[in-house]
Amino acid sequence: MIKLSVNGERRTLEADPRSILLNALREDLGLTGTKYGCGEGECGACTVVVDGSTVCSCLVLAGSVEGCEITTIEGLVEDPLGASLIDSFAHEGAVQCGFCIPGFIVQGWHGIASGEIIDDQSLRHALGGNLCRCTGYTKIVAAMEKSLA
Ligand code: FES
Ligand code: FES
Repeated sequence: MIKLSVNGERRTLEADPRSILLNALREDLGLTGTKYGCGEGECGACTVVVDGSTVCSCLVLAGSVEGCEITTIEGLVEDPLGASLIDSFAHEGAVQCGFCIPGFIVQGWHGIASGEIIDDQSLRHALGGNLCRCTGYTKIVAAMEKSLA
């Protein structure tokens, strides 16, 4: 068993410690907002925050997050900045199939909240590891810029 905190709640993963964190979140905890895209650290669809840093959860072993604090897209719904970003994506029409969007929002939320993203240039840099096969990125960037101070 792996004990950790997920979205502010103490949780226990029953997963094999050698399984990947992405699958443990989805299958053990039912947190299916985090998506499996490439499974190789290339697309960012599986992005979550672990102890204050964004990671590709497809590259993280479940056993390595014992005692960690994890934030997933589900944890942002009640967060003012997270909710604002989610609304902006809807209002900008930045979502097509939607598969990539949780990863973009988690990455953008972390970047804005941490001060890493302060303008258009830093926003585009921070989102460099997130891929979208549908939208062409313009509306995604526009949606995020609405939440910059
Ligand atoms: Fe993890 Fe693509 S599924 S980076
Ligand atoms: Fe379809 Fe981004 S909206 S992959």
